Amino acid sequence: MRSTVAVRDLVAEVSVAPAELILPLFVREGIDKPIPLSTLPGIFQYDLESAVKEARRVFSTGVKSFMIFGVPAEKDSRGSRGYSDDNITSRSIAAFKDEFGENALVMADLCLDEFTDHGHCGVLDDRGCVDNDATLELYGRMALSQARAGVDFVGPSGMMDGQVGYIRGALDSAGFTNVGILAYSIKYASGLYGPFREAVNVSIANGGDRKGYQQDFRNVSEAITEVELDIAEGADMVMVKPAGMYLDIIRSVRNLVSVPVAAYQVSGEYSMIKAAGVAGYIDEAAIAYESLVAIKRAGASSILTYFAHRIDEILA
Ligand code: PBG
Repeated sequence: MRSTVAVRDLVAEVSVAPAELILPLFVREGIDKPIPLSTLPGIFQYDLESAVKEARRVFSTGVKSFMIFGVPAEKDSRGSRGYSDDNITSRSIAAFKDEFGENALVMADLCLDEFTDHGHCGVLDDRGCVDNDATLELYGRMALSQARAGVDFVGPSGMMDGQVGYIRGALDSAGFTNVGILAYSIKYASGLYGPFREAVNVSIANGGDRKGYQQDFRNVSEAITEVELDIAEGADMVMVKPAGMYLDIIRSVRNLVSVPVAAYQVSGEYSMIKAAGVAGYIDEAAIAYESLVAIKRAGASSILTYFAHRIDEILA
């Protein structure tokens, strides 16, 4: 049963197809050519035009879904460039929809950390703590701005309580019933987001962290509670993040729910494989493939991964 490629391919239980992947793309306002990211080798911040060009190239390899992360030219305490009329995320969504129409899915991160000068995922109260409900109101504005630009799925990633229900309500009451929600339901307070913070120019004020609103990685049951709440609030897909060190969580969620389960192979997961590959310790493409298969085997239907930009070489 293992002697030839043909028989191994015949009986393989899990495969990875480009159409199951979502490519994250950083689109930065105020630049005119791509800027390489030192902590995410091979990944860039793009200006609008080069982002579309890169998406076109990756689309030609079979990847059909994109997750846009807008990076503003200026930040303020309320993250207002995240929901102002001409915000970079919505402009990017419109440009992608112009380019691809219905042939690709355009998703967008819906969070304030890329836009706030203190780097938190929401606005702060007088004591410097994230104000959950005031933040929801701004998430509602972001959702409507992204919906008007033509987004297919919004991806709320800020871990505010009630965010999925609030955003669903805002979208529905403005007539955007067809805009889906890919909920970052399970998001652990992980050290693996380190390289991402360079990608969106975020540093959290006063050496702070997100442990007050992201999940403790020692816990399993609260992950299940989060998923159940998000589905009840209207999530169309739920996501587990990070992926590779949380395969048990992906499996538990898969067994529990009937909506599609996505997993986010985050920046640190990419960078570790990349760095070991560059150092010659491992074969980058082989380990990238193995990591994606593992995430699929655990039960994910789709994977958000930086490796999507070179999936043709990885699957070759
Ligand atoms: C929040 C957000 C983060 C990531 C995706 N959305 C950062 C965080 O929560 O600290 C991390 C993704 C990655 O590491 O690749 N907007």
